[in-house]
Amino acid sequence: MIISFEGRVAIVTGAGGGLGRAYALELAKRGAKVLVNDLGAARDGTGHSDAALAVVAEIEAAGGQAMSDGGSVADYGQMEKMVAKAKAAWGGVHILINNAGILRDKSFAKMEIADFRAVVDVHLIGSANCTKAVWAVMQEQNYGRILMTSSSTGLYGNFGQANYAAAKLGLAGFARTLALEGARHNIKVNTIAPTAATRMTHGLFPPELLGLFTPETVAPAALYLVSEDAPTAAILGAGAGVVQAANITLTRGVKLAEATPEAVAASWAAITEREGEIVPQSGAEQAMTILARLQGN
Ligand SMILES: NC(=O)c1ccc[n+]([C@@H]2O[C@H](COP(=O)([O-])OP(=O)(O)OC[C@H]3O[C@@H](n4cnc5c(N)ncnc54)[C@H](O)[C@@H]3O)[C@@H](O)[C@H]2O)c1
Repeated sequence: MIISFEGRVAIVTGAGGGLGRAYALELAKRGAKVLVNDLGAARDGTGHSDAALAVVAEIEAAGGQAMSDGGSVADYGQMEKMVAKAKAAWGGVHILINNAGILRDKSFAKMEIADFRAVVDVHLIGSANCTKAVWAVMQEQNYGRILMTSSSTGLYGNFGQANYAAAKLGLAGFARTLALEGARHNIKVNTIAPTAATRMTHGLFPPELLGLFTPETVAPAALYLVSEDAPTAAILGAGAGVVQAANITLTRGVKLAEATPEAVAASWAAITEREGEIVPQSGAEQAMTILARLQGN
């Protein structure tokens, strides 16, 4: 089965380089019309350049269709204009990949609150801005595929990235809720946690691994998650051609013998026992599993 994007309109944010560029090129190669958004900022989010234009030129040189947008995802008005531009030119928007991102790494003790806010503004609020701008369009079309970009830092933590972690795990929760809300309009919403050698991870990969962890090796997972037959509410890890699934689990738990913190301490091993744990499909399942536990199940 060939996965085609013929007739689809896709927006990829932060696609002037790195992962976003790889996604945009592959979507266009497979038939999508692609709006390449990028503010062209430096790694910390400052400054501005025409990064998106070069990617549009690459797509066009390969025979594809693309247009550029230099708006900031952190500005809702600019994202509304971006979506309106794609819709006016191509009749709709079927795919949104929220990929734009910045870093302001520092241990939390040394981090200014402005640096915390700036990272949340671009990753979390930026993704909400773009998603809000396309949501009604996708509802009307009864078709939408949205991908959030999380990170292993958000899912599992990483020293020096408290701001980034907060934003990135927020995106996974955002995606899972939108998957529930979008289901009846055939809007599927997934999350990717990529790992690739890009400007963002410059200096982190040893030189001998640079050729292995290319952005192109992440693109297959991203494209599958925005394809017609995509799952919804999935969280995939991807890098160097390896694709993994991440799950947020819940253990069976314990009914405390008495309602005291001492009883929690005494039951710690049983509370954290992973045998029989589940992956809830919505938050409501927590209360349901608690009731089941009270009934001795
Ligand atoms: N590279 C990795 O290993 C890795 C790991 C986990 C998550 N990620 C995530 O993947 C995404 C892509 O990162 P990358 O590694 O390709 O880095 P990158 O720096 O090459 O790409 C990010 C792009 O976003 C653009 N951008 C920044 N602020 C913007 C704004 N306000 N509006 C529009 N565009 C903006 C930048 O100009 C840049 O081109 C990011 O969300 C990042 O957090 C990357």
